[in-house]
Amino acid sequence: MSAPQTSRTSGFDKLAQAYSWMEYVSFGPMLQRCRVHFLPFVGDARQALLLGDGDGRFCAALLVAAPQVHVMAVDESARMLQALLHRVERSGNNRRVTTVHADATAWLPDGEVDLVCTHFFLDCLSDDDVEALIKGVRLRCPRGRWVISEFAVAPAPLKWLSRAVVGGLYLAFGVLTGMRTRRLPDYASSLCRHGFVCTAVHTRMLGLLRSELWQSGLADGK
Ligand SMILES: C[S@@+](CC[C@H](N)C(=O)[O-])C[C@H]1O[C@@H](n2cnc3c(N)ncnc32)[C@H](O)[C@@H]1O
Repeated sequence: MSAPQTSRTSGFDKLAQAYSWMEYVSFGPMLQRCRVHFLPFVGDARQALLLGDGDGRFCAALLVAAPQVHVMAVDESARMLQALLHRVERSGNNRRVTTVHADATAWLPDGEVDLVCTHFFLDCLSDDDVEALIKGVRLRCPRGRWVISEFAVAPAPLKWLSRAVVGGLYLAFGVLTGMRTRRLPDYASSLCRHGFVCTAVHTRMLGLLRSELWQSGLADGK
């Protein structure tokens, strides 16, 4: 792990060990299915930026699916990063991973990346933080893909039910981690503003869960 770029302790630290079990009890395999949905399309990635990847279940799967990739995993929680490292060590792929203990909204890699992945992470941020994050990432990803998994408010007739589920999750994470965000940010508008184009979407649980694939640089003709 590189030297910490933040002195803040994260509310997610105390969830790191139990995180995958909590998820399995509440959503079964559905969230992991969202995370890996577009993996078959990014096997040629070389330099990936994983923001808020948590305990590294996606990171471990990406390292297998993309044999040439080097991963930079940025997380505000030191414990989550430790869990991620343990997981990739077990599969012997840790030499292709650099972890960065930092606030992802205030940190950028030195060089360019061709893949960005955020799974159930953008929903931790405010609209302003999402806008700043995407603006920064675009500078380092002039031509690449962004894989996203997120909760969403489902269309009618499940709109109110999905709102209640999302509201309940925010309440639970607020209590467990101290997270202050209380509503889903409009990351799609920010991505479009900064030149990303959504090229594929897959929904699960009647629209409550979304897997999305975005691409930058399409309009540049490079
Ligand atoms: C809801 S968890 C999602 C974890 C994982 N991506 C998943 O799919 O389950 C959010 C993750 O983002 C991290 N996180 C939250 N805000 C962050 C920030 N500003 N900078 C970096 N990491 C952050 C948390 O520590 C946690 O690991």
